[in-house]
Amino acid sequence: MLKNPADKYRPFPPVDLPDRQWPGRVLTHAPLWCSVDLRDGNQALAMPMNVSQKLELFQTLVKCGFKEIEVGFPSASNTEFAFNRRLIEEGRAPDDVWLQVLVQAREELIDKTIESLVGARKAIIHLYNSTSPAQRRVVFNMSREQILQVAVRGAQMVKDRLSRLRGTEVRLQYSPESFSATEVDFAREVSEAVMDVWQPTPDRRMILNLPDTVEVAMPNVYADQIEWMCRNIRNRDSLIISLHTHNDRCTGVAATELGLLAGADRVEGTLFGNGERTGNLDIITVALNCYMHGIDPRLDFSDLNAIREVYERCTGMTVPARHPYGGEFVFTAFSGSHQDAIKKGLAEWKSGSQTHWDVPYLTIDPADIGREYREVIRVNSQSGKGGVAYLLESQFGIALPKDLQREFGPIANDAVDRLGREVTGLELKTMFWREYVERLHPWQLESFATESRDGVVNCRAQLLRSGEPVELQGRGNGPLAALVHGFGQAGLPRFEITSYSEHALGAGEEAAAIAYIQIKDHTGRPRWGVGVDTNLELASVRAVLSALNRGVA
Ligand code: KIV
Ligand code: ZN
Repeated sequence: MLKNPADKYRPFPPVDLPDRQWPGRVLTHAPLWCSVDLRDGNQALAMPMNVSQKLELFQTLVKCGFKEIEVGFPSASNTEFAFNRRLIEEGRAPDDVWLQVLVQAREELIDKTIESLVGARKAIIHLYNSTSPAQRRVVFNMSREQILQVAVRGAQMVKDRLSRLRGTEVRLQYSPESFSATEVDFAREVSEAVMDVWQPTPDRRMILNLPDTVEVAMPNVYADQIEWMCRNIRNRDSLIISLHTHNDRCTGVAATELGLLAGADRVEGTLFGNGERTGNLDIITVALNCYMHGIDPRLDFSDLNAIREVYERCTGMTVPARHPYGGEFVFTAFSGSHQDAIKKGLAEWKSGSQTHWDVPYLTIDPADIGREYREVIRVNSQSGKGGVAYLLESQFGIALPKDLQREFGPIANDAVDRLGREVTGLELKTMFWREYVERLHPWQLESFATESRDGVVNCRAQLLRSGEPVELQGRGNGPLAALVHGFGQAGLPRFEITSYSEHALGAGEEAAAIAYIQIKDHTGRPRWGVGVDTNLELASVRAVLSALNRGVA
């Protein structure tokens, strides 16, 4: 890299708009959306989609609720043309969906494009030519006036051929391509020249798409450009101002959101942001950003996993694990403090005490987009007891008492640390079983029987101690008290039970019970034991023996 980048690169000039209004505005409704997956997204693929892949993605876009879909560049290839024809001839587009096609301002391309639309119910013809100084100089070697004439001639050619689309409701769209790198006054001049040809009215508006073809500045600059255009262009009320951002500086979403504040009506983009270079705007992100502020996006992403699957299959692209909303890890917390906060937040939400979603670390309820709470918490060596407890409870119904969570959390963490990787819920359960339930040495239960008379319980316990039979007899006000008494009577180490809880594991007659017992031995040191049995009384006895066994190194 250069020591002084200013020798080679220069800052982007700001727009002169001292009384800009957009910073003070708030988004209150969703824009019109147009998917350009099948055109801009497709042309950026190493292996462009074939007709059947395009059809599958088209159906998915329709299912998501897109009413405007740029289906291709029909003059560019036979596949593109054939795809258009299939959509129209097989009646695949619902009546309320506009088929949008892109075309450059060249006569033979316009002819072919119009031909591809014959028989369509609703069509948007999208004409573009590039207007920035670099494109004028490097690609076209044309003056401003010559570039303006390219746009005007193209607009006229489109207009002259509209009679070939009898029976089709047609909307016209113009893009000064590379708008964000174009001087705003020249972008306005070219756009107004096209408007002079197409003569839009408030009842028959045209779309003026203002692309951030390559992100060349910060998103506030794009917003200024959009507000400047909205305020300075003639007959604003005859226009649908549309945004089309790319993501070269990784601020495509921000540029679109600020562009909406600046007065735009419509947004073009793709699912998961597929598109040239660093991608087009990710429409899902902007739509769900609206949703998380309580704005109905008028797009349905309630089964985002399924949409992602179709997207990945058709495009061959992969949604990165950290991608907003759709990425694998988006609803996953690895750190213990995050897990704890999420667990508490989800519990509060489930209790119904809050009217509006306010769960720490989760911007929206994953369930709203078909993702699961189960995905929220995973456990690695950075996790705390909260994550461990959550997984045991959510996957196996093992509801550890708080104090036991505190005891088992560090034990699990040490084991996970040794493994040096994330662990599954099943692995955690195995660790838990090994630490508590399967502690069978030195004490093991052979049988336990009680009989009760006048409120006093007598017990007889047949145990093994390091394989040698031991019989205990004791009495108390319950089976556990009787067992503790039995140990004392036999001159074995004394202990007391300081905490007890149990619950069913699963349902039905054969369901096991799990008992959690904390004891304190003669040293006063507390420790937990856990027992599982189809008989609750036996589960408790096993829990006592587990606690005793855990005290033996
Ligand atoms: O990025 C762009 O400018 C485009 C135009 C054709 C709208 O894709
Ligand atoms: Zn583009």
